[in-house]
Amino acid sequence: MLVAAKKILVRARAKKYAVPAFNINHLEALKAIMAAAEKMKSPVIVQTTEGAIDYAGVEYLAALIRVAASGKIPVIMHLDHGKNLKYFQAALACGYTSVMLDGSLLPYAKNVALTKTVVSLARKYGASVEAEIGAIKGIEDLVSVAEKDAVLTKPEEAARFVQDTGCDSLAVAIGTAHGAYKFKGETHLDIERLKKIAQLVKLPLVLHGASGVRADLLKLAERHGAKLGHARGVLDADIKNAVKHGVAKVNIDTDLRLAFTAGVRQAVDDQPQVIDPRKLLEPAIHLMAEVAMQKMKLLGSAGQK
Ligand code: G3H
Ligand code: 13P
Ligand code: ZN
Repeated sequence: MLVAAKKILVRARAKKYAVPAFNINHLEALKAIMAAAEKMKSPVIVQTTEGAIDYAGVEYLAALIRVAASGKIPVIMHLDHGKNLKYFQAALACGYTSVMLDGSLLPYAKNVALTKTVVSLARKYGASVEAEIGAIKGIEDLVSVAEKDAVLTKPEEAARFVQDTGCDSLAVAIGTAHGAYKFKGETHLDIERLKKIAQLVKLPLVLHGASGVRADLLKLAERHGAKLGHARGVLDADIKNAVKHGVAKVNIDTDLRLAFTAGVRQAVDDQPQVIDPRKLLEPAIHLMAEVAMQKMKLLGSAGQK
């Protein structure tokens, strides 16, 4: 069933588990995610970026997700990293139950103003709003304490921001980065900062850039031609620690991309005679579903539907 994010995420934070939020651009990823959610009995967030909407069309995506949500599993249809109002209007009109306004690169006052505009628009549709303060960027790119403080979420500012905007959940920057190259050396999340934020902000917190970049998938993709050199993701232990301290939504895109790519490369290499796209995509769907199930177990959302 299609649901708004707020209630599901408040419950998740209270019970110390997190709901996985997977990015999709196409049917195969959605089928994999739903197969995993049904097997694990897990609520799930299916999210699309503005780029996904440009690629597939908002009506197509909304229709696919609506069908996926027609069973018993609670599904949230979410706009990820929304920046332009036209995408919010289109998504909400198509039935999205949750939207994120990413004003993280704007000055504080502009981020607040834009977030408030989106909150009042979303309220008309009964949809929830995720906002962001601090920039999602690898911690190792930041050398000094002052530099870290300029980019990572400041606990007091986060508390003021949720008061000023009336958002329903808050994405925080504690050292993760998007994509497959998150860390140059040791992986490191600023859990002490997260603890301070969680003391001051009682809303569900959101962790972006949370893919683990699994070594076995990297190897599989590389065996079939990809060159992924120094790719490195967030450790499972760090994800678990973040969930203990207020994180109730965990965003995963790269790990599904990696599974898809590994599966397709292997299928194309192993079956040179095959020209049926369904046969070439099937192993990728299985790999993505396996990754999604692993996330549901890790986050503790399995069994929480
Ligand atoms: O942050 C979200 C994604 O990982 C980037 O997705 O390429 O669809 O913008 P995109
Ligand atoms: P990853 O690149 O780590 O999968 O992060 C995805 C994300 O944050 C989507 O909003
Ligand atoms: Zn993100």
